[in-house]
Amino acid sequence: MKTKWAILSDIHGNLEAIRAVAQDLRRERVERIAFLGDAVGYGADPNECLSLLKSLASLIVAGNHDYGAVGLTDLSYFNPLAKAAIIWTGKKLTEEGRVFLRGLPLWREVEGITFVHATPNEPGEWDYIFTPPEARESFRAMSGEVAFIGHSHYPLIFAEKEDGIVSVFEKEEFILQEGMRYIINVGSVGQPRDRNPGAAYGLYDEGSRKYLLKRVSYDVPTAQKKILKAGLPPFLAQRLASGV
Ligand SMILES: [Fe+2]
Repeated sequence: MKTKWAILSDIHGNLEAIRAVAQDLRRERVERIAFLGDAVGYGADPNECLSLLKSLASLIVAGNHDYGAVGLTDLSYFNPLAKAAIIWTGKKLTEEGRVFLRGLPLWREVEGITFVHATPNEPGEWDYIFTPPEARESFRAMSGEVAFIGHSHYPLIFAEKEDGIVSVFEKEEFILQEGMRYIINVGSVGQPRDRNPGAAYGLYDEGSRKYLLKRVSYDVPTAQKKILKAGLPPFLAQRLASGV
């Protein structure tokens, strides 16, 4: 079956951003929505984001903030801002939200497509893929031709040729070539870090093999005010305006 997917990642408790993306998705007529982790952490509305996410996505994997907020991953390697937000989130989560996050898998594979938060080769290590050498191990671990990832909040595409040479590029629209394999970072819905503050998500049509990175503007000031009112670190509000 050839599916038309929407792939979302890293909502991070930003209700205004995920609402805007949900609105945008109504126009896109996708068949399935996948979410690549970090529903919570940083933003002020973890429970509301989880409710909306559950109504949207039929495939959801865990991110490091999701597991961190429910005690399933070590908090010692998080930076102080992230750690403060994770501890705040852990206290704020409802029991239902906690049970849901604890039950999320680290990765899923559907129709030969891998869906994972960090890396396909060691999903629970929470490593980042920014360069071709970092992508190489993950390509080795993939049985299919495409993996979608999040985690860095920076949209990037890694392409592996049949001879094993891996290149990296940034493109908002492209057709996946036969014989190539890809690791595609779809960016972040709720805390973009590529100097574009618009909520990011990916669309992939298995039939036409077309990938599209979408950007959606949303009510940043409201998301910022909620973060400040919650007593979360002010930088977490400031960064939303510039997308860093
Ligand atoms: Fe994240």
